[in-house]
Amino acid sequence: MLIGHVDLTKRLLLAPMADVTDQSFRCIAKEFGAGLTFTQMVSAKGVLENEFETLRYLAFNKNEKPIGVQILGNDPEIIGASVQEIAKYNPDVIDLNSGCPVENVTKHKMGAGLMSSPKLLGQIICEMKKAAGDVPISAKFRLGENEKHINIIDVAKAVEDNGASFITVHARTIKDKYDKNAQWEWLAKVKESVNIPIVGNGSVFTAADAIRMKEETGVDSVMVARGALGNPFMFSRFNSIVDKNFDPGPPEIDIVKETALKHCEKLSKEYGEIRALVFIKKNIIWYYKYYNGINSLIEKLMQAGSVNQVLDIVNDHTENIKADKYPVEDLEIIKQKFKMKVLFWLVNEPVFTETFG
Ligand SMILES: Cc1cc2nc3c(=O)[nH]c(=O)nc-3n(C[C@H](O)[C@H](O)[C@H](O)COP(=O)(O)O)c2cc1C
Repeated sequence: MLIGHVDLTKRLLLAPMADVTDQSFRCIAKEFGAGLTFTQMVSAKGVLENEFETLRYLAFNKNEKPIGVQILGNDPEIIGASVQEIAKYNPDVIDLNSGCPVENVTKHKMGAGLMSSPKLLGQIICEMKKAAGDVPISAKFRLGENEKHINIIDVAKAVEDNGASFITVHARTIKDKYDKNAQWEWLAKVKESVNIPIVGNGSVFTAADAIRMKEETGVDSVMVARGALGNPFMFSRFNSIVDKNFDPGPPEIDIVKETALKHCEKLSKEYGEIRALVFIKKNIIWYYKYYNGINSLIEKLMQAGSVNQVLDIVNDHTENIKADKYPVEDLEIIKQKFKMKVLFWLVNEPVFTETFG
């Protein structure tokens, strides 16, 4: 599946994630073998108005290529004009966000709110295509409003007819948000219904999940979101299985530490130490989430007031894990909490018990 010059079939794609897929995260993912990464969504209007934060989210270095840029909006003319601006920076894909379920977004017919208007979607893709020059256009969807109103096949056809190069399907409905298991059976149905390539997304937490998604649904490529948080290793593991038929297994703890610290260094450079501190803490917790002692790590990190303190905590914590100093955690609970909320340490216990009880 060649999209422009990029072959998307052999490698996993890193999904756009607001407040997560900054340049540091994208570079680490690429280093471990991600085939394509995305900037987080930016407002089409913000691009036209040169809004500072919008342009910051949009910025990427040439050595990050191949890279996709994702935009959010609902007005074909504004979106077309913003695509014309973005295309000047020559990303490898410009994607239309048609899957964001946040009510403040959908009520303005943006994000997943666009799915109820296949005609408007078609017009937007048509304008994007006209404005993009050689840059391929794609759109990322959910399945539909809810279980009773699944219309992914209609919208997939509408964007195909208007020139999209591929579509990504996050196999949950708007109502599902992120909680339920993704319904992969729909990926196979979409694949059968259109001729453009399909990227499957949803509930891929391991390299083995990604391989299973490809086999069970026939999608051309797989996009990973939460599975990659603190786990860029899943990209190299997937590549090794596909290229060499060899599963290297999970990384040694020293590799996890080295990668986490490299990630911290990149974040410090990207944001400056003071602003980076909160991103650094968040990412460190993701790297160590499935090791014993995670609750103790969270407690210590929350007290840390500088990047140097965080580094000391991470070094000590790793040595303690190696020396088996922590009591065994119930990893199933951590996994459930994480799937429910990526900032799982902020989930308050009573709500958590109610939801899963
Ligand atoms: C923190 C976070 C931020 C996200 N931001 C975006 C975004 O900016 N654009 C987008 O299309 N999807 C966004 N998503 C959705 C993911 O790209 C993906 O579709 C979803 O998490 C399902 O994949 P998963 O089950 O592998 O996590 C976000 C998801 C998370 C967890």
